[in-house]
Amino acid sequence: MTHPSPVSSRALVLFGATGDLAKRMLWPSLYALHCDGLLPDRFQLIGAATSAVEHASFIAKVSDAIQSSANSAMFDAVKFAEFAARVQYVSVNVEAPQGLEPIRAALGGSVAGGVIYYLSTGPQLFGPICLALKAHGLVDAASRIVIEKPIGTDTASALKVNESVGAAFEEHQVFRIDHYLGKEAVQNLLALRFANAIFEPLWNANAIEQVQISVAETVGVGGRWSFYDSTGALRDMVQSHVLQLLCLVAMEPPAGFTPSAVRNEKVKVLWSLRPITADNVATHTVRGQYGSGFSGGEAAPGYAQEAGAGAASDTETFVALKVEVDNWRWAGVPFYLRTGKRMQRRSSEIMIQFKPAPYNIFAGIGATLAPNALLIKLQPEEMITLTLMHKQPGLNEVKLSEVPLNLSVSDAFGKTRRRIAYERMLLDVLHDSSALFVRRDEIEASWKWIDGIIAGWKATGQKCRPYPAGTNGPSAAVALTERHGHSWHE
Ligand code: BG6
Repeated sequence: MTHPSPVSSRALVLFGATGDLAKRMLWPSLYALHCDGLLPDRFQLIGAATSAVEHASFIAKVSDAIQSSANSAMFDAVKFAEFAARVQYVSVNVEAPQGLEPIRAALGGSVAGGVIYYLSTGPQLFGPICLALKAHGLVDAASRIVIEKPIGTDTASALKVNESVGAAFEEHQVFRIDHYLGKEAVQNLLALRFANAIFEPLWNANAIEQVQISVAETVGVGGRWSFYDSTGALRDMVQSHVLQLLCLVAMEPPAGFTPSAVRNEKVKVLWSLRPITADNVATHTVRGQYGSGFSGGEAAPGYAQEAGAGAASDTETFVALKVEVDNWRWAGVPFYLRTGKRMQRRSSEIMIQFKPAPYNIFAGIGATLAPNALLIKLQPEEMITLTLMHKQPGLNEVKLSEVPLNLSVSDAFGKTRRRIAYERMLLDVLHDSSALFVRRDEIEASWKWIDGIIAGWKATGQKCRPYPAGTNGPSAAVALTERHGHSWHE
């Protein structure tokens, strides 16, 4: 997570420079890196999109984007003027033979010195843009390309995207973002596991009873109905963010914090996932779709009533899975994964529940023991809690309670500014450090596993179960864990 490598980056070309992600995340993140002195001297920022936009009006858009972002408090007119001096806008046409020439001109005629291309565009443009960059001679050995999910919608389409990107860039030049890997708390999973000696001897099927990974959102699909309807929670969240979290929890210790070592261990977890197919999809998965209800104390529409909703749809906005990782470390340990929109509260967390004490010496005096659990809260707050049994103070008979040992990140590290995940990701691209990016084989392995589930759903006709907005999903999800004597951590 440090950046020892020599920097060879002289410009970032941002395709989709006026789009939503650029406005909410990318310009504000680049601005923060500028303010913190983390962009190289004379580093150019070239916004590219199809429409013709005057320079001044583009700079005004960038300024507005920063001022209405999570980094708005950093806005300062003098700093912004310095930042704006780095920024240019070019109008491009990927389909025209000379359509990317404005980029070359903005770069002063040459791509030498390390140019980063960030494709904040629809995924259907990833292939065409890469091929056009190559055809225009805008790619050299120091160039890099950044793309983000969705990378395909199944194995076949992901392979196609990876092939077109691979036709223009070597794999080490490709940075596939999963923005969850840019979150501090997610990176801390590696530190928690591999910078502390106490957990590793217990981090396996001998000591762990079950693992839960929940990514619950309170938002609905918002204005994205048509995208979402052809996607669903399994493809939108599980294939990427949730499986990445699973990899970080389940992976073997990498030989070092290097891109190959970390990613080799992650992909092995994906290869070890027991397939979920038509044979076990009914017992291992639950699909749900939110109906109307209440969210944050306000009435919330159901999925079918959201703006832009089309014909009756069976797309899942919630999914719960029981997953097995078939290797020596995890044999027999269920991993329960759950993600959904319009759930009761926003919370991403990982719960590792240890096996119960082998014998209760306090049983004779009526004390029951709860198994220890390690709860890693990723968002909205970052907190690590280890629950321990503790004697209640007093002279009477021995009474035991479960007591949390809490490590609150904000208490431990004070008011360090919370970084947008993209600040970390952009900085890592600048420094050519790809450990926190997803490698091609990870994408393909995760799609292969997801495809099995989707095929299983199709073959068995498994339908979504309704759940009211503002709840924790359909009751079948509760049954999924209870069948094995477990219950969701709420
Ligand atoms: C995106 C999904 O990748 O992640 C969205 O497409 C989801 O549907 C979002 O809302 C969640 O990200 P975060 O950072 O808000 O947890």
